[in-house]
Amino acid sequence: MSVEISRLLVVVALLGGVNANAADTPRWLDSRLSADERAELLNRELTLDERISLVHGIWSRPDRDISVPPDAIISAGYVPGVSRLGIPALYETDASLGITNPLRLRPGDGATAFPASLALAATFSPELAYKSGVILGQEAFAKGFNVLLGPGINLARDPRNGRNFEYMGEDPLLAGMLGGENIRGIQSSPVVATLKHFALNDQETHRHWVNAVIDPAALRESDLLAFQIAIETGKPGSIMCAYNQVNGPYACGNDFLLNRVLKQDWSYPGWVMSDWGAVYATDFAMHGLDQQSGQQADAQVWFGELLQKAVQTGAVPQARLSDMTRRILRSMFANGLFEHRPQKHGQIDYAAHAQLVREVAAQGIVLLRNRDNILPLTSITKRILVVGGYADLGVLSGGGSSQVYEPNTDWRSAIRVGGEGRAGARRNMVFHSSAPLNAIRARAGAGATVFFDDGRYPAAAAALARKADVAIVFANQWMTENEDAPDMSLPQGQDALIRAVAQANPRTIVVVETGGAVEMPWVESVAAVMEAWYAGTGGADAIADILFGQVNPSGRLPVTFPASASQYPRPEIPGWGKPEGEYFEAAHPEGAAVGYRWMAQKGQAPLFPFGFGLSYTRFEYQDLKVRGGKQLTFSFKVKNVGSRAGADVPQGYLVSAAGQPTLRLVGFRRVTLAPGESTNLELRVDPRLTGHFDAQANRWRIEAGTYEVVVGSSSAEHSLRGSTSLHSLVLPP
Ligand code: BGC
Repeated sequence: MSVEISRLLVVVALLGGVNANAADTPRWLDSRLSADERAELLNRELTLDERISLVHGIWSRPDRDISVPPDAIISAGYVPGVSRLGIPALYETDASLGITNPLRLRPGDGATAFPASLALAATFSPELAYKSGVILGQEAFAKGFNVLLGPGINLARDPRNGRNFEYMGEDPLLAGMLGGENIRGIQSSPVVATLKHFALNDQETHRHWVNAVIDPAALRESDLLAFQIAIETGKPGSIMCAYNQVNGPYACGNDFLLNRVLKQDWSYPGWVMSDWGAVYATDFAMHGLDQQSGQQADAQVWFGELLQKAVQTGAVPQARLSDMTRRILRSMFANGLFEHRPQKHGQIDYAAHAQLVREVAAQGIVLLRNRDNILPLTSITKRILVVGGYADLGVLSGGGSSQVYEPNTDWRSAIRVGGEGRAGARRNMVFHSSAPLNAIRARAGAGATVFFDDGRYPAAAAALARKADVAIVFANQWMTENEDAPDMSLPQGQDALIRAVAQANPRTIVVVETGGAVEMPWVESVAAVMEAWYAGTGGADAIADILFGQVNPSGRLPVTFPASASQYPRPEIPGWGKPEGEYFEAAHPEGAAVGYRWMAQKGQAPLFPFGFGLSYTRFEYQDLKVRGGKQLTFSFKVKNVGSRAGADVPQGYLVSAAGQPTLRLVGFRRVTLAPGESTNLELRVDPRLTGHFDAQANRWRIEAGTYEVVVGSSSAEHSLRGSTSLHSLVLPP
């Protein structure tokens, strides 16, 4: 029996109510038909009631004023299926950093904790983004889910944004490519990936009342381009619209974003689901929203009876409702949700997954400073002081809906942050179980002593540092959904702690675990700095492997580290200090010049540039050849000229386009090379990166002229330079 036919029979058997005779099998069950054809056929069968039940769902948590139906799983969301037609329910879970278990309401159900998405972005590795997606999809499916509410790729426009750690940096090419590969990986299981938050949800402060104002052409060249690249690469079944308003209307009722850009210009075939608490009216359906999620989070169940009435009175046409369900069914077919029902207690190879996420952590850690090659540590280092950051407990994770709890951990690994009200009760810094202190001890060698100070009193830590050969200070910045940081400092006096330790011992190494860029006012006084982000399961081993040289660091900054937030377009976070419920605008004068592009435009020098990261070996670039004509391509040679094997991420930037100065990442490649080894790379540039968006004509335009490309190790270091000419080109939106 062919696989196809046996699958068909499994589905027929599952259907129960529907014809179990293969001869009468509904045609939409035929997996040889395209997802479009199957959705079209099945969609015709739905009654009005059935349609309505598919376009809204609950927040499936008992603490959210609802009794979770027996068929659902306690998680982020649930949309009942239509048993009459064998349409499976949607079981939705967060998300990008692993399979969550909100407040651990499913006792004992832990999951692999991935490094922050920002750490994944720091690998500059589409391959690791794909592999991460694969195991994320597998864990989701094995826990009974068929919709994963990730990845998120909002561009990091402000280092203080509380959710930067959930996203993939500040550059549209990097975020789009890695986001797209991550989706491809997730969807290699029968799980729909949800790309979020569409769009411009770039601050958490009063996210429900902020109107992000931006030039529409600049939006196309930045955040929307990231989404466009990710959608083309990964074909996500679903898109989640954001909480904020964009140039006026709310993102989930935004005709321009949803109908015009996503569905018309990009011909996106899947469905748009709302974020939890992002719907304000039934007519959001007319503006492109296909499904209301987590309905208790909204003031009304807009897409329930109210939508039904609107359809009956003709305020929302039948055809629109039918389009909404067709899109949902289409993505369900495209991702195998009919053929493969999730199991709830499937097998998960946590040990294998731990290996992969450790590799991601190791490749995403960025070595920012290494004075006199203090790192890697050698066996002559006998007295090692470890200070602060709860390094004896674990590695930090970020808070909010993406929070993962590992298997077999308990609340002892969570430090209460506190605060008022229900939200305050849930503010906890969760530490994943691998403790850097143990990992350092394990590598320090028999004759070495490793001692720990909690870092509460700088003077006490400094006194111990004087007696140590080396002091390793761990500094943490806990970031969480729903809050931004007011500035870029390390909280709770950690800057003073680092200063005191560095003054006592010049051989001070700082490991920062942060949600993004922070200020480092002490940087000149310390010997080494390592950005470990939130490193996930196995993070401590990844950190220690780099400290002791078992792994050669190769992460590159996916965000600029400005010297201070004042170098950026918004000196203060818009809306900071305002009462809830008051609407306000957040101007985006930077437009498409996000991060490093803004710094270049303003002639500002960052603390560390986008793309930067050190290695224990050295790489050289040679023989740049730039070719033009219809499409820009460039090739060059990269050589490991040091004495250790290692990985490098050479980057190509466009520095002038048709005679106009610019700075834009147009290509990158991660390569691993043995000492003395070299390789030739050829990179093709997406033409949209060489052009600009003409909003009037609704077209991309690449002007004829000279284009100059540089190749280097960051956005600020350009070893090679070459130029060519391009023909003029006009592309659809
Ligand atoms: C977040 C989403 C998340 C959803 C469901 C919202 O608060 O913004 O990213 O997927 O909750 O938990």
